[in-house]
Amino acid sequence: MQSIDMANVLRPTAQAYTLPPACYADPAILAHEQAQLFVGGWVSAGRGDSLDKVGDYLAFSVSDTPLIAVRGDDSQLRVFANTCRHRGMRLIEPGRGSCRHLVCPFHGWRYTLEGVLAAAPRMQGAENFDPADFGLVQVPCAQRSGFLFVNVDGNAGPIDDWLGDFDALHQPWGLESLVTASTREFSVACNWKSFLEVFNEYYHLRKVHPGTFSALYDEPDVPEDARGAFVSQFGVHRHVGSVGVLEQSSSPLPVLPGLSGRLANGTRYTWVYPGLAFAASRDAVWIFEVTPHAVAETGVRLTLLFDPHSVASGDFEAILGRYEHRMAVGMDEDIAILEAQQLGLTSALARPGRFCPELEPSIHAFHRWYAGRLVGAGLAHG
Ligand code: FES
Ligand SMILES: [Fe+2]
Repeated sequence: MQSIDMANVLRPTAQAYTLPPACYADPAILAHEQAQLFVGGWVSAGRGDSLDKVGDYLAFSVSDTPLIAVRGDDSQLRVFANTCRHRGMRLIEPGRGSCRHLVCPFHGWRYTLEGVLAAAPRMQGAENFDPADFGLVQVPCAQRSGFLFVNVDGNAGPIDDWLGDFDALHQPWGLESLVTASTREFSVACNWKSFLEVFNEYYHLRKVHPGTFSALYDEPDVPEDARGAFVSQFGVHRHVGSVGVLEQSSSPLPVLPGLSGRLANGTRYTWVYPGLAFAASRDAVWIFEVTPHAVAETGVRLTLLFDPHSVASGDFEAILGRYEHRMAVGMDEDIAILEAQQLGLTSALARPGRFCPELEPSIHAFHRWYAGRLVGAGLAHG
C-alpha cells in the first residue's frame, strides 16, 4: 500500500478536504485501521451496568479478537482473550451471562474468574507442564462514565490520556448512573466511518430527515475545544421538548437530574474515536458502537440509556417503545443514504470533497485525528 497523502485533510476546516475515497473502499486500508485504531486504541466494548456481580461476563470482539470481560471473586473486572490456552478454542459464545468458572467446551480445561488455569484433565503425563504458565491472556481495561473500554494490544497508553476531558465534559448527564433499557444489533452496507460521520453532522438533516428531525434542532454550538481522542458538539433544541421521540410537543420523560440551563433543553453529540458515538440528550442517551466487518459492512450496536427512576416507572415500557420507534425511523432514513453513499465512494472516479464548516466540523475533527494516527504509524504523510 502506498503512503496516503493527508496534507489536504490536515488543513483548517474551512480549507480542508475530506479523506481520500480509498479510505472507505480499500481493504488494505481497513486492515491498517483495524490494527492501528481498533486493536491499537481504547475501544468501547459496551456498557458495564450488567457486570456488577461476581461471575458476570460479557463476551465480545474487537476486530477479529474474541474477548471476555468477567468480574472476579475479588470483585475486580478483568478482560481476557476468549481463547483457550490448550489448542485455541474460543471459550465463551458472544453475549452476556454469569458463570462460576470458564470451562473450555473442547477438552475441558477450566479457568478461574481471575483467568488462572485451575484444572486440565489427564495432563499428568505432560513434562514440565506448569498450569501457572497457562492462564488466560489478559488485556488492559477500564470503566469510564459507565462504558467498558479495552485496549487489545496494550500499547494505547493510559486511558485517561486517551479520554482527556471526556469525563469532566459529560459529568452533567450522569452517564455512569444511567441504565440500559434497550439494545439492538444490526449491520449496514457502508464503511464504519460513514456511519459515525452521519451521526455527527447537522448538514444532512434538512434533506434526509425533512419530516422527522430537521425541525427539532437549532443551530449547533461549535465543537468543544477539549483534550482527548473525541469530538463533542452541543446544540439546543428549537422548541422545548424531547428529540428522542417524534411527537415533539410532549416530552414523555423528565429532564435528567444533573441538567440545568441550556443543557436542560439540548443534545450533546459525542464521538469517541474510533468506534463509539452517542447523543446525550435532555431525557435519554442513545449510543452507537460500531465494528468494521469489511470496507462496506459495519456491525452496529444501538443502546438506549435512561435515568433509573424513569425505567422503574409503571408506564415505562410504552414510553420506551416511542424512543425505539424514533430511533428506527431515523436509522432507516440514514441507512438508505449511507448505502448509496458507499456505492459512490467505491467508484474509481470518486474524489475528496470539502466540508461545510458550520455543520460538519465534527467530521473534520475526526478526519484530522484519523490522519494523524495513520501518519504516526508511517502509513500516511501530511
Ligand atoms: S482447546 Fe480448550 S481444552 Fe482443548
Ligand atoms: Fe441522520
